[in-house]
Amino acid sequence: MKNLEGRVAFITGAASGIGLGIAKACGKAGMKVIIADVRQQAIDEVLPYFQEKGWPVHGIQLDVTDREAYAKAADEAESVFGKIHLLVNNAGVEVPARPLWESTFEDCDFIVGVNIQGILNGIITILPRMLKHGEEGHVVSTASESGLSVVHNCALYCMTKAAVIALMETLASDLQGTNVGASVFCPGPIVGNLRATSKEVRPQHLQNDSDPVPPAPAADQEMPEFDFSKLLMSAEEAGERVLRGVRRQDLYILTHTEFKEGLRKKFDAILRAFPDQPINDDFIKLFSFLITNPIYETQTTPGPLKTE
Ligand SMILES: NC(=O)c1ccc[n+]([C@@H]2O[C@H](COP(=O)([O-])OP(=O)(O)OC[C@H]3O[C@@H](n4cnc5c(N)ncnc54)[C@H](O)[C@@H]3O)[C@@H](O)[C@H]2O)c1
Repeated sequence: MKNLEGRVAFITGAASGIGLGIAKACGKAGMKVIIADVRQQAIDEVLPYFQEKGWPVHGIQLDVTDREAYAKAADEAESVFGKIHLLVNNAGVEVPARPLWESTFEDCDFIVGVNIQGILNGIITILPRMLKHGEEGHVVSTASESGLSVVHNCALYCMTKAAVIALMETLASDLQGTNVGASVFCPGPIVGNLRATSKEVRPQHLQNDSDPVPPAPAADQEMPEFDFSKLLMSAEEAGERVLRGVRRQDLYILTHTEFKEGLRKKFDAILRAFPDQPINDDFIKLFSFLITNPIYETQTTPGPLKTE
């Protein structure tokens, strides 16, 4: 999607962290911004930032797991700003880190509900409207680096993010030949409030009786005094990266080159796991649609982010 000026962005989880960073980048690019978030108070707190800058903004309280509410939110967005051009499925939650077998069904339902069903709800509610109006459009979903390379004791989070990556890769493939593109955003550590907001928004019926108390680090594992915040990317920079990816039609939007080596190890492991046996050319001809997808060839290297 090349032309962003005057277009409408519908961003979920936009009242905090990465979603807010994306919303700011959209406002700066001259877009009309819908801040959709389940926390009304947080929406009210961020709207003045946009209003003071003179950027068109409208807040909608929305729980992305509620399909009826999603359709109403899309209607409201269209009645306020007109056609939606950019859908950003960014709302997400985490659950306490622990081995999968110690997780609860409440953990499963909460995280699958928001991180997967919430994104499906967004796409199935809004994408047909975008395809119908026919103007240039784009869908971005926020996954995570943890969907590409797994993190110890975080099976549920990693599973939901890996699902989002597969979902968006397939969506990008399905959308080829239309006026709408698709990207998956896989950020590394960014300044945000995921732990706190995940606790705050977790519905009563999906609460755990008790959550594990994180173990204190053993004395010899204690980290030296260090300001980790210096190593986190700002949400504003993450937002700019997302918009660059939208303009470039990137399949993957990434943040930290430091993750490259880990991914190489993962893909090497997969390649090593193939049995050593001859290749059948007839099999390749018949199953070429399973063997590779041309969507992967569309990805090029974006280069360093130019900030003003
Ligand atoms: N911050 C990071 O380091 C990081 C890294 C990788 C991926 N992510 C992903 O980025 C996204 C944003 O994370 P963040 O760190 O900015 O968190 P955040 O807590 O700052 O923002 C998330 C927002 O989503 C909203 N939200 C939660 N459940 C919702 C629901 N059901 N409906 C609507 N809104 C809902 C929250 O109210 C909150 O405002 C998440 O999908 C997260 O998994 C974050």
